[in-house]
Amino acid sequence: MKKLITLIVNGTPSQLAVEPYRPLVDVLRDDLRLTGTKKGCGHGHCGTCTVMVDGLAVNSCLTLAVDLDGKKITTVEGLTIDGQYHSLQKAFIQEGAVQCGFCTPGIIMMAKALLDENPTPNEKEVREAIVGNICRCTGYAKIVKAILSAAEGR
Ligand code: FES
Ligand code: FES
Repeated sequence: MKKLITLIVNGTPSQLAVEPYRPLVDVLRDDLRLTGTKKGCGHGHCGTCTVMVDGLAVNSCLTLAVDLDGKKITTVEGLTIDGQYHSLQKAFIQEGAVQCGFCTPGIIMMAKALLDENPTPNEKEVREAIVGNICRCTGYAKIVKAILSAAEGR
């Protein structure tokens, strides 16, 4: 049986009727058409589905939407404000840290959670923060450089 919930996604409240078994990633992508969040493994192994819930990074494939009634969710779309990219988004472009791009939204959201908590991380801290985010294209060096460069530019 569907349950009525309200999700505050990127500052906008949406009332939704969702089945209790549906993961947040599916509700974001299929119901709210926010397809920036990617679904890779669907089992908590790849990090592509990372979003923020009340300021903390979570795997949205492992998080049931019904448990988030009234919560604030930030997706990668929410980082672009009035057409202006977030410093992390700019840094990923400038450093060439995007190839196929499938991992990118999840890594950027994990990096956002890191920089919110620790605005000046060192390389080891950046690497530790994104350990659960798999990229099969870039080899990570440019991703780490982009996150450090966004942190420096703050
Ligand atoms: S899709 Fe969520 S961790 Fe892979
Ligand atoms: S850029 Fe392709 S998986 Fe990361």
